Amino acid sequence: MQTLTITRPDDWHLHLRDGPLLGAVAGFSARRFARALVMPNLRPPVTTVALAAAYRQRILAALPPGTNFRPLMTLYLTDATAPAEIDRVRASGFVHGVKCYPAGATTHAEAGVTSLAHCRAVFERMEELGVVLQLHGEATDPAVDPYDRESVFLERELEPLLQRHPRLRVVLEHVTTRAGVGFVRAQGDRVAATLTPQHLLLNRAAMFAGGLRPHLYCLPLLKREPDRVALAEAATGGEPRFFLGTDSAPHARRAKESACGCAGVFSAHAGLELYAEVFAQAGRLGRLEAFASFHGADFYGLPRNQTRITLVRDPWPVPASYPCGDDELVPLGAGERLAWRLLEAEATP
Ligand code: DOR
Ligand code: ZN
Repeated sequence: MQTLTITRPDDWHLHLRDGPLLGAVAGFSARRFARALVMPNLRPPVTTVALAAAYRQRILAALPPGTNFRPLMTLYLTDATAPAEIDRVRASGFVHGVKCYPAGATTHAEAGVTSLAHCRAVFERMEELGVVLQLHGEATDPAVDPYDRESVFLERELEPLLQRHPRLRVVLEHVTTRAGVGFVRAQGDRVAATLTPQHLLLNRAAMFAGGLRPHLYCLPLLKREPDRVALAEAATGGEPRFFLGTDSAPHARRAKESACGCAGVFSAHAGLELYAEVFAQAGRLGRLEAFASFHGADFYGLPRNQTRITLVRDPWPVPASYPCGDDELVPLGAGERLAWRLLEAEATP
């Protein structure tokens, strides 16, 4: 049987939530990934190193026994974040960046930044100390069409930001467009991007295939086919500034299948296997390891993982749902088959 053994990967963009939902999802990521950058958009948001330390402990307590998974934390930037907090980030050893949500851009982004211009002093401190800014790159101007929010953000917000702060290190999170890929490529080594499985595998037609598919609704939205093709080329092309970030964002079925459903796609159940589909489709499975296990660690200046993980080509049906308290989580690819399966026995050091 065909197998693929690679250095254990990291997930550079993950929503683990809190409370019972955290308990329901943490094990999926811990089985596959050595580390994950855990998003801070809780309610209330994780705005300080002290809050991140407490959240990190709750995550560790929720992990299945015997796992070596290491949560890497990031802070939720607000208009009120003080430059001194960045000093505490640098000193912490466990906070690996600051996440910027433009206010109102997405789930739990109400407390986000109303204007990047308000954060100059914080960004200057981040430049001085080499702290990475993780950006949700979408314009929030209601006059901007939802499908244009990323490209407008690049032009109106990100380009000027990079000019104002020539040493600021930035990850454009979940890049979704050909324009976004081109933008990242045109920058120097200080700008990188994460790519999600849903944006690599699907275009926007999938959200409307045969009816409305709320479980494929996420922000940024799925885009057009030429965008998807550009993302797949960036992911599988071996370029060091593109790396794995699932953006697995669980919401219970009732919150998704609603008159005003939540944005977010749950993909942690197959957080590596879904990418294997993308690389297999491109005939570039040999490049999965660098994308999943090297590029992110290298960008963040962290050591590459020493342990290995094995995928086997053995198609398996993705369950229609996973349990989540008195509700369910509907995973990406529910009811479909994935070609690559995680070999649990070898997923240890
Ligand atoms: O679809 C999304 N869901 N996009 C985000 O940026 C946030 C996430 C969430 O937390 O549910
Ligand atoms: Zn996210």
